[in-house]
Parts: sequence; structure tokens; C-alpha cells
Amino acid sequence: PVLVVDYGAQYAQLIARRVREAQVYSEVVPHTTPVDDMLAKDPAAIVLSGGPASVYAEGAPSVDPALFDAGVPVFGICYGFQLMAGALGGVVEHTGAREYGRTELAVTTPGRLHDDLPDAHPVWMSHGDGVTKAPEGFTVTASSPGAPVAAFEDVGRRFAGVQYHPEVGHSPHGQEVLRRFLRDVAGVPADWNTANIIDETVTKIREQVGDGRAICGLSGGVDSAVAAALVQRAIGDRLTCVFVDHGLLREGERAQVERDFVAATGVDLVTVDAAETFLRELDGVVDPEEKRKIIGREFIRSFEGAARGVAEGKGADFLVQGTLYPDVVESGGGSGAATIKSHHNVGGLPDDLQFSLVEPLRALFKDEVRRVGAELGLPETIVRRQPFPGPGLAIRIIGAVDADRLATLRRADAIAREELTSGGLDDVIWQCPVVLLADVRSVGVQGDGRTYGHPVVLRPVSSEDAMTADWTRLPYDVLERISTRITNECAEINRVVLDVTSKPPGTIEWE
Ligand code: XMP
Repeated sequence: PVLVVDYGAQYAQLIARRVREAQVYSEVVPHTTPVDDMLAKDPAAIVLSGGPASVYAEGAPSVDPALFDAGVPVFGICYGFQLMAGALGGVVEHTGAREYGRTELAVTTPGRLHDDLPDAHPVWMSHGDGVTKAPEGFTVTASSPGAPVAAFEDVGRRFAGVQYHPEVGHSPHGQEVLRRFLRDVAGVPADWNTANIIDETVTKIREQVGDGRAICGLSGGVDSAVAAALVQRAIGDRLTCVFVDHGLLREGERAQVERDFVAATGVDLVTVDAAETFLRELDGVVDPEEKRKIIGREFIRSFEGAARGVAEGKGADFLVQGTLYPDVVESGGGSGAATIKSHHNVGGLPDDLQFSLVEPLRALFKDEVRRVGAELGLPETIVRRQPFPGPGLAIRIIGAVDADRLATLRRADAIAREELTSGGLDDVIWQCPVVLLADVRSVGVQGDGRTYGHPVVLRPVSSEDAMTADWTRLPYDVLERISTRITNECAEINRVVLDVTSKPPGTIEWE
């Protein structure tokens, strides 16, 4: 792999993704990883990330100079660029010339990284210190107003670095520069693609599971579906999938799992029909946290019951989990300790159900998971599904949950999704919850009569990762069609309102 050494900025994962976009497999490692451990991974190259510290600050993370003696290509970015300069005999100083944000890079000498790119082009900078003298053997190839040494390379030793952030979208040529480092400086083959990901993953699953049997919970979402499809490809009918229908899903989602997913994969599926139980347990409950607790508890109960049934009937030693790479990185791992993704709702299984975990998506980012799913022939509706919370529509009904309210919200949600799709907005929005204010009524007029119905809220948001979000400026004509159709087709709803709150301060969901 290419190792991305994380110096504590939020950029390391982004760099790892960009390296993979250049079709090279990458992994993130903490900067505290000893050089020997890094080398034990047989890295094709090492990228030193940016970081928030100043290289002089007391206790600032550093780099072991031994890294540069191993014959491995190294690329330094921002803080990593300064560390590299310092470790190899260059000079890093607090120049006082701070640059934050967009600045103009001037290519001063042709080199492998910037050759034939525009002589001047915008890049994204974020630094207070700067390299004032490159180490011996390096050619300085670019400068910026605040960084006389903004890029350097030593092609012989296969070292290079840039002061700016090539991984962010605000550096329009950044991806190309990263690709050139990998290809033209480091000489790493670009062979990480969807077909290889599938082959490697399937091989690994076969090694792990042997002739054992596995069980997988399906949620209707993309992660569990792709995880199941990969395991199915590896071990065929020795996989049984369990789908708990809690009655809080959106329109069509049960059919997507029972019909479309099964048709695409041929997987052995057990459906647990638990809607009645969930409704009974949720009866009269208004408090959001209480709803979530009840749903979590009942979900585990239903899943556990089914898992026990499968394990006793057919036998199952392995439990498949859709853990993604960002979860692995964020829980400090990479190696060892399995992380159970609790919002997948199949964590918390009791100890007497002894399963080993199979996590086929452990090395993958979300966009890779979607591509793998598409390549495995999964339906578009699953592969491109908007994020949807485990507790489902229950936390989009403000007030108590009952069958009628669920039916109303389900229809309104389906209308909104249909219109967003036909308006070509699926790639613009991250998700668009439709929220039923079940305890609020307002007066309206429809036909000749007065109505006293409920409002629904449209909550369209744009986001990269759901940690922060902005409300999406949807075209008025799409809003109009959604509003007209919902008020016409859902008898209980006489008003459609738009949520124009970013996150923060609002969360995406209302509960
Ligand atoms: P909030 O409302 O916290 O939501 O801004 C952030 C993202 O997480 C989703 N979400 C959940 N997903 N189980 C899940 O699997 C949950 O309990 C849950 N609650 C919120 C939400 O849809 C959004 O994408």
C-alpha cells in the first residue's frame, strides 16, 4: 500500500481517498507508528500529511529520519513537507508570511510534478511556517507569495513535496500532482480498481470463513447489501441473510430487499416480520431518545431470535458486518480490534451467540462501496440509496408513532423522493428527510371545505459526511411539484414547509 501518515489534520483520510482515486491502494497510519512497523507493510510510497501543529512547537509530532533511508518514495504535504525539509537538512522558519486559503502558485522550474501545468495556477494553502531553503539534492519547482519554496523534488531519491494541499478541491490541479508523484516520481503502478477490490476481498473472505457458514443482517442500505453480496460471491449458499422489517421503512424498501436484492444475488434470505411488535412497543411514545432506545432494543431482539434460529438450524459461525474504513481509522485501528458499528443495529448481540466477525468493507470508503455494489449488479435503488437512519420513519414523526401516521409519512416521503429524482437532484442533495409534525394542526382550505390537517417539513441538505450540512437550495419548480402532490395525494396533510437551517445549529434529522 501507499501509507498516509496522519499528522493530526482532518486531511489524512481525504489524502488516502485521493490516492485511491489515482488507482493506488492506500492506508492511513498514525504518526506515532514506528518506522519499522511502516516498513513491515512494504509500502510502495509514504505520504506525510498536513497537520495543525507548528514544527517548532514543544511536543510537535516529528518524523524519524530513518524513514528517508529506507529507499521508499516519500511525498510531503504542508506540515509533512516542512518535516521532510527539516529532516533532510533544509531550513524551516517562522516567516510571518501566513497564507490561508486560495493563493496563486507560480511554477518556476519544470519538474515532474508541475511540468506543463499552467505557469500560474490556484492552490489551497494553510500555513504559518515555511521552508526557506530546500535540502541538498532537491530542486525547487514552485513558489507562492507567502512560500518561496512551495514545491520541491529529488527525483533520484524519489522524494517530493508541496507546501499547499493538493488533496482539496480548491487546488484544481492537485489530484493530477498527486497522480504524477505516484506515477512519475514513485513509479507505483495504478492497479487498484473495482474488479481488483472484488477479487481480493472475495479471496480474503474465503480464507477467513473456510467451509464455515455466515449470517448477515440486511438493513436495506448500501453497506450491508454490498457486504452481503461480497460474502455471497465468496461462499454462496453458506451465507444466510436476515432482514428485520420493523415497519418503519420507506415505501418500496422491503420489496427492494426481498425481491430485487435476492434477484441480483440469489442470496438465502430470512425476513422477520416485526412491524406489529415495534408498533406495540412504540405506542404513545413521544420522546425521541425513548423511541430510539425501544427500536434499538427490539431490533436486537428480533435479529437475535432469527440469528439463533439460523445458527441452530443451518449453523453459522460468522457474522458479517458492513464496517467501513473511516470507522476503522476513527476508532484508532487499522489492525486488530474489531469495531462493531452500533448504528447498524446488530451490535450488542449476547455473548452466548458466539460469532466471529467478517468485515468485507473494512478497507473501503463509501464511494468505493457504491462502485463495488454496482459492479456486483446490485439494484440502483440500493446502491444509490440516500442515508436513512436505523430507527427509520419513527424519528421523522414528531409525536407518537402509529400505523396511520406511518402510512401518511411514507406516501409523502415517496412523493418527495420521486420528484427529487425526476428533477435530477439525487446527486445534489445528500438526503432529504420528510418530517411529519403529527401533533401540529393548521387550518386550510381545499375544494370548498375547511381543513384542519398536519404540516410536513422538507429537510433537503447538502453534505460531505453528515457531520456538517447546509440546506439545499432546491429549484422552486421542484418544490412546487412536491408541495402540490403531497397536499393533493395525502389527505391528512394540508401544508408543506421548508427547513432552511444548516447543521450546526440544526441536526439533519428532527429527532
Ligand atoms: P443528524 O440528525 O445527527 O444525522 O444530523 C446525521 C446522519 O446520521 C443519520 N442518522 C442515523 N443513522 N442510525 C443511523 O443509522 C441512527 O440512529 C441515525 N440517526 C441519524 C442521519 O440520517 C444523517 O444522515
